Amino acid sequence: MIGVRKIGRHAGAEIFGADLSQPLDDASFARIADAFFEHQVVVFRGQKLTPSQQIAFTRRFGELEHHVRKEHRLDGHPEILIVSNVRDGRGRAIGVEDAGRFWHSDLSYKQVPSLLSALYALEVPVKDGRVLGATSFASTIAAFEALGEDLKQSLQGLRNVHSYRYYREKNVRAQREEQARGARTVQEHVLSEEQLKSVPDVEVPIVRTHPVTGRKGLFVNEGHTASIVGLPEEEGARLLAELYAHIVKPEFRYEHEWRAGDLLMWDNVAVQHKANFDYELPLRRLMHRTTVRGSVPF
Ligand SMILES: [Fe+2]
Repeated sequence: MIGVRKIGRHAGAEIFGADLSQPLDDASFARIADAFFEHQVVVFRGQKLTPSQQIAFTRRFGELEHHVRKEHRLDGHPEILIVSNVRDGRGRAIGVEDAGRFWHSDLSYKQVPSLLSALYALEVPVKDGRVLGATSFASTIAAFEALGEDLKQSLQGLRNVHSYRYYREKNVRAQREEQARGARTVQEHVLSEEQLKSVPDVEVPIVRTHPVTGRKGLFVNEGHTASIVGLPEEEGARLLAELYAHIVKPEFRYEHEWRAGDLLMWDNVAVQHKANFDYELPLRRLMHRTTVRGSVPF
């Protein structure tokens, strides 16, 4: 019997009683899908999933993406992106080491961005009995609903540019600053021109309607938003800074503390997220991500 327990104020619920390694009947899947879209971030604890089982479960929500970072797709399973700080025998990163340094929504820079991501924790870093590397979430729907009517009105019709190129440049700058401070060493990941061309900049509405629930949310994020269309740079930057600070207020947040065996799913239209890099090798973190394709934002 599938059960749901709310664990966050606006986003966050635990779903019990589902073994995701097994095929689910339609009624069970519908119960899970309803809970997922209602709670925006859901966790299934204690799962034991092979890559094929994770793919089979998440594919029920829609078509799966193959990430632009080809090098970090799992061999034989291009639908799985490896997210990890682990290095191979030659010292190369086996997966994405720097995923989620800034608040973002996965693949929001694509013409057809993602509907949801599912991250399965194989290994989590533990120090002195405490699990490190939590993931922070913020509900962009709750944040939009809490805005004053005047601001809501003035945002209607405004569009913003989401740009993978902008994100890359910002990320590389941040990496170099961290390294200069001696804070953390991350391998600089170079993308070819061809890879970059496959993700051209897109213009999307700031107030986005959820394709499943019909609720409205803020579709701007500090990782991928390069500018607001039609606003002078300074004015756009001021408005973006105001929105970013609003979205991540504590009342809209859910912090996920990982356990190995968690399959965590989040709605990329309803929430944005950020990683916490408070761990380092030899503490290992190894996760497999699948990402479901969504629809053109409106
Ligand atoms: Fe992410």
